[in-house]
Amino acid sequence: MEFFVKSGSSDKQKAGCLILGIFDSRKLSPQAQLVDELTDGYLSGILRSGDMEGKLGQTLLLHSIPNSNCDRILLVGCGKEREFNVANYQKVSKKIIKILHETGTTDALNCLTMLNVKGQDLYWKIRFAIEAANDALYSFDQLKSKKSETRKPLRKVTYLIDSRADLPQSELAINHAEAISKGQSFTKDLANLPGNICHPSYLAEQATKLAEDYAAMSVDVLDESELKEMGAGAFVSVSQGSAQPGKMIAMEYMGGEKDAKPLVFVGKGITFDTGGISLKPGAGMDEMKYDMGGAASVFGLMKSIAEMDLPINVIGFVAAAENMPASNASRPGDIVTTLSGQTVEILNTDAEGRLVLCDALTYIEKYDPEIVIDIATLTGAVIIALGHHATGLMSNNNPLAHEIENASDMTQDRVWRLPIWDDYHSQLKSNFADFSNLGGRPAGSITAGCFLAKFTKKYRWAHLDIAGTAWRSGAQKGATGRPVPLLSQIVLNRVSKAS
Ligand code: BES
Ligand code: MN
Ligand code: ZN
Repeated sequence: MEFFVKSGSSDKQKAGCLILGIFDSRKLSPQAQLVDELTDGYLSGILRSGDMEGKLGQTLLLHSIPNSNCDRILLVGCGKEREFNVANYQKVSKKIIKILHETGTTDALNCLTMLNVKGQDLYWKIRFAIEAANDALYSFDQLKSKKSETRKPLRKVTYLIDSRADLPQSELAINHAEAISKGQSFTKDLANLPGNICHPSYLAEQATKLAEDYAAMSVDVLDESELKEMGAGAFVSVSQGSAQPGKMIAMEYMGGEKDAKPLVFVGKGITFDTGGISLKPGAGMDEMKYDMGGAASVFGLMKSIAEMDLPINVIGFVAAAENMPASNASRPGDIVTTLSGQTVEILNTDAEGRLVLCDALTYIEKYDPEIVIDIATLTGAVIIALGHHATGLMSNNNPLAHEIENASDMTQDRVWRLPIWDDYHSQLKSNFADFSNLGGRPAGSITAGCFLAKFTKKYRWAHLDIAGTAWRSGAQKGATGRPVPLLSQIVLNRVSKAS
């Protein structure tokens, strides 16, 4: 799909399909008004006949419109004009693309970018529209023997803008949106792949490919034997039970000044989580292929940054392993020494994410990071706390937390902060090691965050628990590609602050 912008007036256009907004109740948007005049009241006649109220998400496809150079007009309900906010705009943008894709339209001209969206400028309206469109069009059929193909697919969407002076910000919005969408699709692909295909070595190959594709990117892979030798005992305790060798994968993007401190993103990459000896129940276990969603989001972020060619240094770091039950797997009660030297009693082998992450978080000290953000499908408890809407945010640094909250507001890729106060640390007490990897049922996401906090004292750090937001279950089962929009925005904001 290709996206363009064009300045002009809605009544002077030629297109396969012209998209016009209608507000609740039966109110023509200014662009629809112009077309109504051109077509001698054809649109207002339709509204009067009661076919279109303008309720949010309602659509009506019209053909053979008198006096119009457009083959079709798609009327789109935008809800109450005063309530037309980002969330509604995104909903409508997704809906439009799905409808168009099922018609014979190959090129569409969208006038909704001309509507007022509460608090948003043109750059954002175009970015949101394109990201929402690509999100809605995504499909994963690479493993089906017959691919579903649309007969005459939509190829081109043009957004109408008021004046040529707005072209530069519009072009920038298109570039950014396409780069972020590419990253997000990459994340979805990796996450949707099953554990028998997407194992740690597969992830390492993907990183190598990224380094081939982008000059500013290079890759370093640490294998399990090196990690064992180095003293990453927590990581190895998880990986050792699998026939698939674990890997730590560093993707180094050096787009900035040579000596500028990098932003470091660390992803949990459990390519399948059985729970290990503390085996998970069978129902729904297939979804634990998504336990590398954090790693997948780091891959997507690196792709989006490289596509935007951003002048900044970013390290994407992935701790990739498979958590299996086996005769050589860790047992509950085992005590291991982490790369930091701290010892951990493994009370539950299913709390493996924090074990692979803690060694990764120690290892990345070598980059002398500006900030560190880890992304992990870490706890089922975060779903109990926040549901599937918000990612859990924990941090040892208020400005960094605010920076993330700000990017989350901008992208609507939502986060909500949870505390990691000292009070909670007592839940990790162990009689036999420095602490355990299990905090019990109360505040399960927070005690997981507290565990990680014991390894991140040397830098500004935030943790994103994406267990509730990385994928959808049920009939719509599939990766969401979150939080790639959030992470990309954090980096973009850093870049624009510097320039
Ligand atoms: N990968 C899971 C977390 C998870 C569970 C994500 C369900 C999404 C849905 C993680 O490794 C895990 O098993 N966590 C345990 C921790 C517990 C043993 C302290 C959990 O959440 O039950
Ligand atoms: Mn687990
Ligand atoms: Zn896990």
